Amino acid sequence: MAQPRLPQTAAIMALAAAFCCCSGSTGFDFHEATVDAIQLGFKNGSLTSTALVRFYLDQITRLNPLLHAVIEVNPDALAQAARADDEHLSGSSRGCVGPLHGVPVLLKDNIATHDRLNTTAGSMV
Ligand SMILES: *[C@@H]1O[C@H](CO)[C@@H](O)[C@H](O)[C@H]1NC(C)=O
Ligand SMILES: *[C@@H]1O[C@H](CO)[C@@H](O)[C@H](O)[C@H]1NC(C)=O
Repeated sequence: MAQPRLPQTAAIMALAAAFCCCSGSTGFDFHEATVDAIQLGFKNGSLTSTALVRFYLDQITRLNPLLHAVIEVNPDALAQAARADDEHLSGSSRGCVGPLHGVPVLLKDNIATHDRLNTTAGSMV
């Protein structure tokens, strides 16, 4: 019998933060960082979107075998992060983007996205 697939939840973010409060190589403390703090980090150069995405991809790799909370990862996440970093550096994103620009998020998979992620609501059929 096929194992039912659980929809993605935001739970892994909270758990990821609880398991690790390391800061990676950037000096930025990811533990319980708010969107405002992340955006400030982007602006003052203490954080990049790429470093943040790498941190969460690593957390998903480490914790998902236990938690089974994330069913897909955007294969373009690092490329999107690099583009957001370029835009932050060049200032080309100024005024054109919202506060989540360059900030990785987890979405429940009944939310359609404009990328290669499937929208299944937990079922491919
Ligand atoms: C840079 O941003 C980070 C993250 O919000 C913050 O912790 C740090 O104090 C900021 N540094 C300066 C010099 O503003
Ligand atoms: C979307 O589903 C297809 C079919 O199962 C799969 O091959 C593909 O890798 C999925 N996309 C992502 C981003 O995981």
